Amino acid sequence: MEEEGTVGRGASVAKRDTVLILDFGGQYTHLIGRSVRENNVYSEIVPYDISADDIRKMDSASSIRGIILSGGPDSVYEKDAPGLDPAVLELGMPVLGLCYGHQLIAHMSGGKVRQAAKKEYGDTEAIIDRPEKILHGLHHKEKVWMSHGDTVASLPDEWEVLAHTDNTPVAAFCHRSLQIYGLQWHPEVVQTEHGSQVIRNFIFGECKCQRSWKMADFADSAIGEVRSIIGSGKAVVALSGGVDSSVAAALVTKAIGGHNLVAVYVDTGLMREGETGQIRGTFTKLGTDLRIINAGDRFLKGLSGVTDPEQKRRIIGRVFAEVFEEQARASGAEYLVQGTIYPDRVESGRGGKSALIKTHHNVGGLPKGIKFRAVVEPLRDLYKDEVRKVGRELGLPEQIVKRQPFPGPGLAVRVIGEVTREKLGIARRADHIVTEEMERSGLSDGLWQYFAVLTNTTTTGVRGDGRAYGYLVSFRALVSREAMTARFAELPWELVRRISTRITNEIPEVVRVAYDVTDKPPATVEWE
Ligand code: XMP
Repeated sequence: MEEEGTVGRGASVAKRDTVLILDFGGQYTHLIGRSVRENNVYSEIVPYDISADDIRKMDSASSIRGIILSGGPDSVYEKDAPGLDPAVLELGMPVLGLCYGHQLIAHMSGGKVRQAAKKEYGDTEAIIDRPEKILHGLHHKEKVWMSHGDTVASLPDEWEVLAHTDNTPVAAFCHRSLQIYGLQWHPEVVQTEHGSQVIRNFIFGECKCQRSWKMADFADSAIGEVRSIIGSGKAVVALSGGVDSSVAAALVTKAIGGHNLVAVYVDTGLMREGETGQIRGTFTKLGTDLRIINAGDRFLKGLSGVTDPEQKRRIIGRVFAEVFEEQARASGAEYLVQGTIYPDRVESGRGGKSALIKTHHNVGGLPKGIKFRAVVEPLRDLYKDEVRKVGRELGLPEQIVKRQPFPGPGLAVRVIGEVTREKLGIARRADHIVTEEMERSGLSDGLWQYFAVLTNTTTTGVRGDGRAYGYLVSFRALVSREAMTARFAELPWELVRRISTRITNEIPEVVRVAYDVTDKPPATVEWE
């Protein structure tokens, strides 16, 4: 992509208290970020090998009040294990190491880290020997969540043990005179009963952070900032139908006026029921220059005969970029607006060490041949629930604000195997039934996502007096905070039965329905 720079909220906001999270590749690094922000304190994830000098530079722009070292898959004593600039521990900022971070601080300070005699994974009981500092307010016995194979066996004299478990002699520690802490367990996951208390103890008790991260202030200052960047220039945005691009488009519409924002909605033919109509209603009302492009045939042609999920993603990304590029070129826009949010940036491997698990096409599929003055990403620092709050501040309808996350490649990754018009129709009808029933049940608000998947398994059934042969549809409902981990929802059986009955009654091509009872990990959210 050719653009002169990417601008977003990171660039010129007033100094605000920030907790820096050094990412050692742990699966839960994002949850640490979320747990801090839930307390109205801004957090930023950076690669583990950031230098102390760079942290000092960041501090002069954003007031770094404390540092958290994330978990990670390595062993500190192995050759090439990711390390920490030792000067980071001498910055005078409070530091909290979690899991790998905990072991790393111990290792760097002359403590002993070794393979645990018994791995601890899942719910564990920790004995709090000293309920003080980061463990202030905790009970003598605490339910905590562990996931580790190594353990800190001992520490030099200037360190003190705060907690232990049956298998881990040093489950929490602190330095006797410096504000440096380690925790073997994960306070950032919901399974740890008083995890949020520990996070609060660190960010308020130790780091003395102010609660300076509020969504109402965010919307106002983001509008001002976008206005100062684009001015009376022209911008173009790709509307996907999802929350992120809708909120970004609404925010930019408020900033520069609807006549200066061309919103391109590419109907890929891979959308959910009713999606196009809702977008038309909302953005026509806002006065945005909305262009709906019907490109379903182009996508289907590109996907013909393709079964590999990553190849599907690449094709959809490419066709999308082609269609969008034609429109963007015709619009004459100088700025490209994107609904990129924080997890998109970090997950695609730019923020730290975490492995790229699936290609998310909203990050890759940008126009390549057009020169923009800048890419404007007003939501680039926000998590999903923060984006929803901004959407409400901007007065977007609940239908859009509450919309579940939907993958860029749409129903194509929910139709297993080759995508055809017929299979898309079945998947769309099944998805609509699941959505309608979940919303009717009143349970949908507590869920992260719920949807149907059309498997490529055909199976025997009975209809009337005869044998029938048709598809197996599965549906999934998940509880999650950020989709980094997710638990399948324990739905009432009568709801499961109603969904199953409706799908087999209303979609003759389907004879069997399965409810997916797999958490993430080990499964991912999407089947492909
Ligand atoms: P997974 O399946 O990776 O999903 O556990 C995590 C979250 O990401 C969404 N997802 C995608 N979003 N493009 C997207 O924009 C994609 O290719 C894609 N694949 C998965 C998924 O719906 C879930 O919310």
